[in-house]
Amino acid sequence: MKKIVLASKNSDKVKEMRLVLKDLPLEILSLADFADLPDAVEDGSTFEENALIKAKFFREQTGLACLADDSGLEVDALGGLPGVHSARFAGYHADDLTNNKKLLDELKKIGVEESAADYRCALAFVDTDGTVLLSEGKILGKIKIVARGTGGFGYDPYFYLDDEHTMAQLPVDEKNKISHRGAALKEMILKLKEIFS
Ligand code: IMP
Repeated sequence: MKKIVLASKNSDKVKEMRLVLKDLPLEILSLADFADLPDAVEDGSTFEENALIKAKFFREQTGLACLADDSGLEVDALGGLPGVHSARFAGYHADDLTNNKKLLDELKKIGVEESAADYRCALAFVDTDGTVLLSEGKILGKIKIVARGTGGFGYDPYFYLDDEHTMAQLPVDEKNKISHRGAALKEMILKLKEIFS
């Protein structure tokens, strides 16, 4: 069976991706299956560039076909930030807690309690023969400064789908049905099926 590596060190992303890909005739590995891999240098200026950087880098490191995700939150009131800096919004050692605090601090600084926002996800697949496939997904929502829910990861407790419900209130399979990553994966699966059937 063809092996592909989910080229992300974020275990929450890997969990979401595995669930959507589970019915494809592929053996799915993740970076956790390889010891001591270095980090890719994500210095692209778009989600797509960074996804491709990661897929190419880990394709070389592992010798296997790789599927990489680059994703993030764009908040209108912050001019689109944190955008491609979503993972490290609060600095090099940032985690979900410090990133969310930074998000709230930035909104408080400009006196904003809610703002239109979106999540975007770019996926890049790089095969062992160099074939590249790309896909994208997006979901519109709203950031509010009051957290709700304990599911998901990252900015999910502050990302409202409507006035009442956040992404963090959805079980992972429900999140995949509507999320930016779910949409990008759906498009990617169609492309993968074309080359593997
Ligand atoms: P990446 O690993 O460089 O693509 O960074 C992605 C970052 O964007 C994550 O660390 C989260 O902060 C944020 N992010 C991406 N997708 C989601 C999501 O589905 N929910 C919440 N935050 C997300």
